[in-house]
Amino acid sequence: PSSSRIFSGMQPTSDSLQLGNYLGALTQWVALQEGNEAIYCVVDLHALTVSPDPAVLRDRTRRTAAQYLAAGVDPERSLLFVQSHVPEHAELAWLLSCHTGFGEAGRMTQFKDKSGKQGSEGTTVGLFTYPVLMAADILLYDTNLVPVGEDQRQHLELTRDLAQRLNTRFGAGTVVVPEPHIVKSTAKIYDLQDPTAKMSKSAASPNGLIELLDDPKVIAKRIRSAVTDTEREIRFDPVNKAGISNLLTIYSALTGRSIPELEASFEGRGYGDLKVELAGVVVDWVTPYQERVHGYLADPASLDEILAAGADKARDIAAVTLDRLYERTGL
Ligand code: ADP
Ligand code: NA
Repeated sequence: PSSSRIFSGMQPTSDSLQLGNYLGALTQWVALQEGNEAIYCVVDLHALTVSPDPAVLRDRTRRTAAQYLAAGVDPERSLLFVQSHVPEHAELAWLLSCHTGFGEAGRMTQFKDKSGKQGSEGTTVGLFTYPVLMAADILLYDTNLVPVGEDQRQHLELTRDLAQRLNTRFGAGTVVVPEPHIVKSTAKIYDLQDPTAKMSKSAASPNGLIELLDDPKVIAKRIRSAVTDTEREIRFDPVNKAGISNLLTIYSALTGRSIPELEASFEGRGYGDLKVELAGVVVDWVTPYQERVHGYLADPASLDEILAAGADKARDIAAVTLDRLYERTGL
């Protein structure tokens, strides 16, 4: 099997990643390092769309990188860097924005959701062009595969449309058309209090969220308080039993035990048993994860060195792609 170029990133918009980030994306990032050329980025330019405090943004950028490492991203095998350290991202985003339809960008559901909440004056042009910057991130590295959660599918479609458009306008081979890598079983982890909504760092209330750097006691309590249903049977049925199905998904993903095996082991037992056992599983996994994160954060010089080395190598790749695009588009 030939090696693929992998690219993905997360926004440093919170002190802690949440369990959906880990199960939907990070575990795939780690798995894809094997036998591929993987590039993982902390997308701080994207985080500017929510107007962060400068010191908070800088701190969260480091914390996000430390969490990639703690999850198993290996800087010996993969490139790990911060988006704003590679100016080619912003340069390519401008070029791509001149090939993106205004209506096309306006159809992005994430923009409609977020701008709906912020109102027209609170919504920036940066939030509108966010998916174009994301397309630039991906196309800059001639990416074949993009491991993300389900919520990014529409942005990936836009990226593919833009790539095909550039290849039509400027000749075959102008850019590589990427494929999403979305693992169905963990593509969407749901909020514990509202199991119809995705778990998100930017959730209105933290009660349904498993923040990976939170006190394990708080994490356990949130799992024990998860919203379920009025039946008694522990059965995987996302339509009728969204809460229980979400808990089973999380349990299965963290332990490698299949859903049917879990259903069998909980036969005749109550929801309370499932919650208590799952809380134990999550706490046992998250405790060493937190220790690793704090280890990386305790040595910021080494962390910055890893990020600087990653940015150097990323720039070498990005510069070649951008040269090719400038040349083909008449710049
Ligand atoms: P958030 O919504 O928590 O701010 P980001 O937008 O930074 O997360 O997304 C980082 C990555 O995590 C993306 O690949 C996204 O698809 C994935 N992701 C986010 N939330 C979930 C979830 N609830 N389930 C699965 N994957 C998720
Ligand atoms: Na998201």
